[in-house]
Amino acid sequence: MSESKTKDTGTASRQQAFDVMRVRQDFPQLDATVNEQPLVYLDNAATTQKPRQVIDAVSHFYESTCSNIHRGVHQLSVVATDLYEQARETVRAFINADSEREVIFLRGTTEAINLVARSWGAPNLDSDSEILITHMEHHSNIVPWQLIAEETGATLRVVPINDRGEVDMVAFREMLSEKTRMVSVVHVSNALGTINPVREMTQAAHEVGALVLLDGAQAVAHMHVDVQELDCDFYCFSGHKLYGPTGVGILWGRQELLKSMPPYQGGGDMITRVTFEKTTFNRLPYRFEAGTPNIAGGIGLAAAIDYIEAVGIEAAAAWEDKLLKEATERLERMDGVKIIGTAAQKTSVLSFVLKDIHPHDIGTVLDKSGVAIRAGHHCAQPVMDRYGVPATARASFSVYNTTAEIDALVESILNVQEMFGHV
Ligand SMILES: Cc1ncc(COP(=O)(O)O)c(C=O)c1O
Repeated sequence: MSESKTKDTGTASRQQAFDVMRVRQDFPQLDATVNEQPLVYLDNAATTQKPRQVIDAVSHFYESTCSNIHRGVHQLSVVATDLYEQARETVRAFINADSEREVIFLRGTTEAINLVARSWGAPNLDSDSEILITHMEHHSNIVPWQLIAEETGATLRVVPINDRGEVDMVAFREMLSEKTRMVSVVHVSNALGTINPVREMTQAAHEVGALVLLDGAQAVAHMHVDVQELDCDFYCFSGHKLYGPTGVGILWGRQELLKSMPPYQGGGDMITRVTFEKTTFNRLPYRFEAGTPNIAGGIGLAAAIDYIEAVGIEAAAAWEDKLLKEATERLERMDGVKIIGTAAQKTSVLSFVLKDIHPHDIGTVLDKSGVAIRAGHHCAQPVMDRYGVPATARASFSVYNTTAEIDALVESILNVQEMFGHV
C-alpha cells in the first residue's frame, strides 16, 4: 500500500487490501533481534506489541500535556482532562455502549472482575445463590468469584467443556436455575482459543434472571464487540492485549446496575462531599475511579483503538484466522504434536504439546531461534487439569504476524524434536 493511500494515522485504511508488511512498519519492537535472530513474536495473547501511534500518544502526554485531571483549572489540566474524557468516548463508541457513564477506566480485566465480584456480589449473593463459570476460565474469572462465594455463602458452579474445548451447552442450560445470580464467562479462551457462544449463553442466563459478565480480554483485538448486541450486563477487557499500554483496562456495565452498586474503593475523585461524619459519592463513572488514574494509559488505549479501527478490525480478524488455520494445518501434519483446543469456533490461539517434551523446554529452545511463544498453564490451571497436562506451549497470532513466521515456528518445533531425539 502506498503512503498516499493511508489515513492520517499512518495506518492501512480499511478500504485497502490487507497489507501485513505495511502494518508491521508501525510496530518498532518487531524490528528487534533475539539471540541474534529476527524476533518472531507469537506471544500476543499475553500482550500485544504497541504501534508507533500508541507510543507517540503516551509520549506526547508526558512531553506536552502532563498534568493531573478533573481537579485543575489551569490550562494543562484542562487539556489532559479533555484528552482523557475523549479517550473514554473512544472506548464507548468502540464497544457501542449507550453512555460514557457506563465506561469505567481500571487497571485491566482482573481489576474489573474483582470490582464486579465485590461491589455487585457482596450485596446480592447469599447462601441460596449460585454463580456459574466455565471450565475454561482464566484465574482472574475464577478466584474473585471464589473469594466472594466464600464470604457470602454462595455456590460457585463450573460448566464442563468437551474434548474440543467447547462449553457443554446442554449442561449449561441444565445448570441454570432461579438460583443462578451471575454467569461469568470468557468470550475467547486464552488457553484454547475457543470463541464461546456468548449471545446464546446470555439469552439463556437472562431467561432465569441471572446477570452476565463477559471477560473480553482475548476478544476485543480479534472481533467487533457490541455490548448492546451481546446484551450482556458487564463486559471487561485490558488495553495491553489490544495494542494499548499496560495498566489500563475497561469495565463496561449497564448504567442501572452500576448505579445500584456501592463504591469499590474510596479516595479522591469518587466523592462529591467528604466530612468526618459522612461522605457522598460522585456520579458514574467516577464513583468507581478512586485516585489518580492511568491518564497516559487511557489516552494510549484510545490511540490503540483508533489504530486498529483504521487497520480495520474485520480485516485484521480475517488475516489472523488465515494464520491460525495455516499454522493449525501444519502442526496437525507433524508427528508427535498434539493440539489442545480444537473448537469449531476459534481465534488466534494455538496451544499444543509435544510427545515427551515439556512445554518449558519447547519455549526455551524456540527462544534460541528468536521465536517467542508462551509455555505454562496460561493462568488456566483447571484447563490443564482437564486435558491432563501440566502446561502447554502456546503460539498466539496478531495482526502483524506473517506466514513466514509460521515457517519459523514449524522449523523451530522440528529443531526441538530433533534435539530431544524425537524425529
Ligand atoms: C481470558 C483472560 N481473562 C483475563 C485476563 C487477565 O487480564 P489482565 O492480566 O490484563 O488483567 C487474561 C490475561 O491473560 C485473559 O487472557
